[in-house]
Amino acid sequence: MAKKPVKKRAPDRNGKAALRKKLMEAAKTAQKNAYCPYSRYPVGAAVLTDSGRIYTGCNVENASFGLAICAERVAIFKAVSHGEKRIQALCVAAKSAKPCGACRQVIIEFAHKDAEMIYLDWQPLEKKEKITITKAGKLLPHAFDPSEAGL
Ligand code: THU
Repeated sequence: MAKKPVKKRAPDRNGKAALRKKLMEAAKTAQKNAYCPYSRYPVGAAVLTDSGRIYTGCNVENASFGLAICAERVAIFKAVSHGEKRIQALCVAAKSAKPCGACRQVIIEFAHKDAEMIYLDWQPLEKKEKITITKAGKLLPHAFDPSEAGL
């Protein structure tokens, strides 16, 4: 009797899905620490670096409003300050989560072009969530490019 064909899966499919889940959970957990008494808009972020480590961040606001820093930049700066240089994936978790323009410029400084950008649109008290996935290379058309500027 002919053998049933074995369905082949991409070797890292399960690993990749598990890692994505871990990153999303890390961003959600970080969101709990958001310091946002002025906007009341908590954001959490998590980045996966080339070393396989995950660094998290939340937004941190200030009475002098312009000093607020986004969750994405906190996570990235934490990673870089621990000696990490390259980002493989980033997740941002908030209601209608999407990185702002300033964060996009910072993300492209450190992320691989094909790094996965995960936008996790959710609110802690609601069950619903929506996941959007894109690539770092698509974040910022006409970005400031240091090599073009001769820097
Ligand atoms: N914020 C982030 O942390 N990440 C974003 O991608 C967008 C905005 C923060 C900054 C501020 O604390 C609050 O959200 C409202 O703008």
